[in-house]
Amino acid sequence: MASSATPPTAIRVLALHGPNLNLLGHREPHIYGTAGLDAVDAATRARAEQWGWTYESLQSNHEGVLIDRLQACLDDGTGGVLLNPAGLTHTSVSLRDTVAAVIDKVPVVEVHLSIPEAREPFRHQSYVAGVVSARVSGLGAESYLVGLEALRCLLTRT
Ligand code: DQA
Repeated sequence: MASSATPPTAIRVLALHGPNLNLLGHREPHIYGTAGLDAVDAATRARAEQWGWTYESLQSNHEGVLIDRLQACLDDGTGGVLLNPAGLTHTSVSLRDTVAAVIDKVPVVEVHLSIPEAREPFRHQSYVAGVVSARVSGLGAESYLVGLEALRCLLTRT
């Protein structure tokens, strides 16, 4: 009989999507692709569930909402985070401070669809880059799948 209990290896992964990522599919498709955020999440969720992981996604245009959700990871059982801070990548000391506050407990992988360093100079600095566990960029929606692989690698390291 199949057990409904969560297997001990099940990881709860959280994808946090920053400002304007709700517009994926419409917004500068030559840079970000034609897939909407729902499709990106569906593909990432499907991969996570293949591994027996659970997948939660939150998109917000508000810095404080992202910070509050990331802080909650300290004691809500989240096993790893895929973080695309979008424009906040290049502006937010506060989000960086939150990543630094949780990183000893929860690995955080910075994910970008594009390669910000190959774009306008103001995108070349990532405030979170110095505190995340790993970074993935430039693969479009597949950056999230590679981000999941990065989390699996980080979580299964001995
Ligand atoms: C982005 C890159 C950022 O520079 C930009 O502000 C975004 C999306 C990416 O996924 O490529 O909104 O994070």
